[in-house]
Amino acid sequence: MNDVKTAIITAAAGAGIGSAVARQLAADGMRVIITDLHEGRMAKLSEELSQTAGVECPWYALDVSDHDAVEKVFDDVAHRYGGIDVLVNNAGWSVIEPVSEMSLEAWRKCLDIDLTGTFSCMRFALPHMISANSGAIVNISSISGWEMTTEHGAAYSAAKAGVMALTRVAAAENGKHNIRVNAIAPGLIYNDFLRRIYPDTFFDSYLEKKAVLNRLGEPEDIAHMVSFLVSEKAGYITGETYGLSGGVHPHA
Ligand SMILES: NC(=O)c1ccc[n+]([C@@H]2O[C@H](COP(=O)([O-])OP(=O)(O)OC[C@H]3O[C@@H](n4cnc5c(N)ncnc54)[C@H](O)[C@@H]3O)[C@@H](O)[C@H]2O)c1
Repeated sequence: MNDVKTAIITAAAGAGIGSAVARQLAADGMRVIITDLHEGRMAKLSEELSQTAGVECPWYALDVSDHDAVEKVFDDVAHRYGGIDVLVNNAGWSVIEPVSEMSLEAWRKCLDIDLTGTFSCMRFALPHMISANSGAIVNISSISGWEMTTEHGAAYSAAKAGVMALTRVAAAENGKHNIRVNAIAPGLIYNDFLRRIYPDTFFDSYLEKKAVLNRLGEPEDIAHMVSFLVSEKAGYITGETYGLSGGVHPHA
């Protein structure tokens, strides 16, 4: 029996939530499996996390929209490390085009990564969790799955709402196997990459007019919630989606 838990995180090598979750779960003592579409930065993060966790934290290049590749990576991880205890589905991509103008290609790409990618990872993690009679999954959704807004684009909002529904059904199916499945719906979570997309005025206006807690959300805010949700302290929580927006988009 393996004492160190193995956690797979998708899109873990970016500037935002994924790498913060990876650092937090390594600090929690887990063997973190870093996966991302882009190979850059993964080796460095792997080295850093291996030192923090005190066990090897390997990396795999993985496009979550490649169903067969997800199967290969997840089976390899389970085989090498004795199972998959935790899965965090963080990969996301968006396009902001009105429905009346959106190309089928853009719609499909968004659904393939955000929704089907989440499905594929759950599809190939769950059999390993079921055979261990234990597991915890956290899916990163978005407040866009709840809101009536033009800010995020229809494909992204539909995909993230789908992630919430997928979370509930998978939770209902797998509670009997001692597997919990939850989702987090973040509001605006700052990272340096967003600074390149949005003008400074966007952040200034958010801070002045919207930020209830007088600051922007940080990737670590989401990482703390993931750490809780995959822990024993959250042992009676499943099928839920938790909004995490610093009070900007409260959802009851
Ligand atoms: N940042 C926000 O304000 C915010 C708000 C709500 C929800 N979210 C969600 O949180 C998650 C993380 O977003 P983030 O902004 O923190 O960025 P992030 O840095 O955690 O994630 C971006 C990463 O996604 C990877 N990626 C893109 N396509 C991929 C694919 N097909 N397969 C695997 N990896 C892929 C990129 O390589 C990059 O490393 C996403 O699902 C996003 O939709 C973010």
